[in-house]
Amino acid sequence: MRKNRKGIILAGGIGSRLHPLTQVISKQLLPVFDKPMIYYPLSTLMLAGIKQIAIITTPQDLPKFKKLLRSGKQWGLKFSYIVQKKPNGIAEAFILAKNFIKDSPSCLILGDNIYHGNNLSNILKEADEDKENSTIFTYQVKDPERFGVINLDKKGKPVKIVEKPKAPKSNLAITGLYFFPKDVVFRAKNLKPSKRGELEITDLNQSYLSDKKLKVKNLNRGFTWMDTGTFDSLLEASNFISLVQNRQNTIVACPEEIAYGNKWINKSDVKRVAKLMQSAYGQYLKSFIR
Ligand code: DAU
Repeated sequence: MRKNRKGIILAGGIGSRLHPLTQVISKQLLPVFDKPMIYYPLSTLMLAGIKQIAIITTPQDLPKFKKLLRSGKQWGLKFSYIVQKKPNGIAEAFILAKNFIKDSPSCLILGDNIYHGNNLSNILKEADEDKENSTIFTYQVKDPERFGVINLDKKGKPVKIVEKPKAPKSNLAITGLYFFPKDVVFRAKNLKPSKRGELEITDLNQSYLSDKKLKVKNLNRGFTWMDTGTFDSLLEASNFISLVQNRQNTIVACPEEIAYGNKWINKSDVKRVAKLMQSAYGQYLKSFIR
């Protein structure tokens, strides 16, 4: 029997680039316009059809995430909560989540990454279909030195991945969304910490690339990908979401809407949540079940 893919949202770290904002609250709980940042990566996993999701965060922030997201049942989901004591690197997520992943394929999304674009759901579902290879997503940026960067050969085949290269060989950033086959825990356990003492997601991706098991999908200019780890990018993300929502009278990353669309919850479930929210968000919930 084919195992369903498990989702992981990595929402730990110390958010040092956002101090003092993040001195008492987790970065991934900060607002991006009208909702907590974590709603965006959560919605991305839901659009991929993933229902079992582990949230990894720091010991001090875990109770706040639990209070916000609860069991997940309200959206037809099942959440597990896992502590990362120290930010030992993104790839450590797979070691911490080994009992959650068991022998299923998985998908990791960074808690500060926002994806928005036409056909996203189908692109994600396509990546989910392939249980043997890993899939990563690239995006053309003007400042590749801030990210993991991949360079491709003339035929478009991936050659090498480098984390935050001083002299990037391409302008293709690797975004914070990774689909892996079931062997990811084994591979993560075999990684050695980098010079900065972290288990690097780049080394994990490179291990799939070396074994010719890495698929690279570029998100074209019709897409918007943002990571919201700096003051400027946080403000830009809020402005972007505000602009799209106000122009179209929709809500981006509304878990109730996605769950309802996926038939994971019904009209009365949405009504129940709407009743508790007096905000524009609550009004919106009422609008799509009319
Ligand atoms: O956003 C995409 C980029 O994310 C990729 O292009 C890079 O290859 C990848 O390394 C990562 O780069 P960042 O510089 O954004 O990594 P950062 O250390 O900021 O971690 C990303 C998020 O993951 C951040 O919200 C905090 C969280 N995190 C990070 C580490 C290292 C954890 O929860 N635990 C950790 O141990």
